[in-house]
Amino acid sequence: MILILDFGSQYTQLIARRVRELAVYSEVRPCTVDPSTLDLSDVKGVILSGGPSSVTDTDAPLFNPSWFDVGVPILGICYGMQLMAHRYGATLGRGASREYGPSTVSVERSSGLFKSWSKSERLAVWMSHGDHVEKLPEGFVVSASSIGAPVAAMESPERKMWALQFHPEVVHTPEGKTMLKNFVHDIAGCPADWTPENFIEQSIKKISTQVGSEAHAICALSGGVDSTVAAVLVARALGKRLHCFFVDTGLGRKNESSTVMTRLKALDLNVEMVDARDRFFAGLKGVTDPEQKRKIIGRLFIEVFEERAKAMPYASHLVQGTLYPDVIESVSVRGPSATIKTHHNVGGLPDNLKFSLIEPFRELFKDEVRALGRELDMPEEILQRQPFPGPGLAVRVLGEVTSERVRVLQEADHIFLEEVRAEGLYSSLWQSFAVLLPVRSVGVMGDGRTYEEALALRAVHSEDGMTADWAYLPEALLRRVSNRIVNEVRGINRVVLDISSKPPATIEWE
Ligand code: XMP
Repeated sequence: MILILDFGSQYTQLIARRVRELAVYSEVRPCTVDPSTLDLSDVKGVILSGGPSSVTDTDAPLFNPSWFDVGVPILGICYGMQLMAHRYGATLGRGASREYGPSTVSVERSSGLFKSWSKSERLAVWMSHGDHVEKLPEGFVVSASSIGAPVAAMESPERKMWALQFHPEVVHTPEGKTMLKNFVHDIAGCPADWTPENFIEQSIKKISTQVGSEAHAICALSGGVDSTVAAVLVARALGKRLHCFFVDTGLGRKNESSTVMTRLKALDLNVEMVDARDRFFAGLKGVTDPEQKRKIIGRLFIEVFEERAKAMPYASHLVQGTLYPDVIESVSVRGPSATIKTHHNVGGLPDNLKFSLIEPFRELFKDEVRALGRELDMPEEILQRQPFPGPGLAVRVLGEVTSERVRVLQEADHIFLEEVRAEGLYSSLWQSFAVLLPVRSVGVMGDGRTYEEALALRAVHSEDGMTADWAYLPEALLRRVSNRIVNEVRGINRVVLDISSKPPATIEWE
């Protein structure tokens, strides 16, 4: 595998994904980790990520220089390159020739990372750096240069070190993937054997060993991609010893519980439905504060879970669809971020439950989970499902959550999704949904006055939910949706369009 040390760059996870796209397993660790505390026997190469600091800053992240002596090939990217250069005595220039954005480098040596191009060939790259290497460190040669950064890339094959000032992991460096391939496959010598097929085979063996031939496991399913693919995979190892349940909170989309149950049963999962609708509506009665809603839903979910668990005293293991981004201990360069929303509170179970955890995707990214689902022959309608927040429609019904207001939102949301699907846009959007606003306005229908609530339509593009852009929907689609909602859904007389990006807005309204 390839180990990536994280110096706090916003692109670190992207490096890990690119390496995995080359069918080589990669893991991210904080740059502060001491190599002597890790088992490095499987590590065939190390990548030092970029980062926001300057190597010579007093508050530069701590890094144990013995990483340079572990003996496997090392690739330094941006900050990683400066760190490497500094270590071997280079002069670093600060500030004066800052470069952010597109640039062009010229290949100086057709070797190593650049062996795929001839000398003097020009390549488009993405630069993002304040510091740069002014004078080459001892034992290194320049492998690419640009006007702003004469040492845009350098190498010292004797020391097994290669370095890039620019970012090969971003799409704006079109040949970046080939450079990473040259490092991962050729220089580090990793075979391309990290495939969904192998992963499934290994996971089934691992789960069978972990659980043994007698024990049982439970799994709370939401019908979303992660928990469903996790359950299908674990069921391959445990069969009917995996007991799944789906909690109907009453806060799902229109017909959600029956659709999800039908899909889960078709996957041959041992699954039952828990009808907790009255309990959730009773708990939410009179509550309008978003954080309160989230906390109440989280608490009720745990209560329901514990009751189910009690009814199955023979179950000793718990399956969760935790993903790698939730796990990566990123270096906290800017300190802990403020709580914007209490996320993942549903399904986020307390630590003191007496279960051994089965988390087959702790090392996977979402697109890898989708690829596994395909390998497991799961239907696209599950794999391509847009993300849906744990607290469900409770955070899209602004103001008090009553069963009637949820019903109104479900009807409107259903029309919007139906039209988005008919337009062929569903899977190209990160999310598309409706939000019921606690705002009444005057309208006219037939000859009568109406005084009803307003509905907002929200559709966004996003890579990972961390940032998002509002999506430009065709005018004809918007017209159809608005007409249908006002005509077909009693309780709404006005439809508005949310054209806010994240930041400063968030994707969900609460
Ligand atoms: P925000 O609203 O913070 O949401 O921009 C980012 C992404 O996270 C989803 N989301 C949640 N997912 N539990 C979840 O599992 C939650 O409590 C939750 N709140 C928001 C949201 O739909 C978007 O994709």
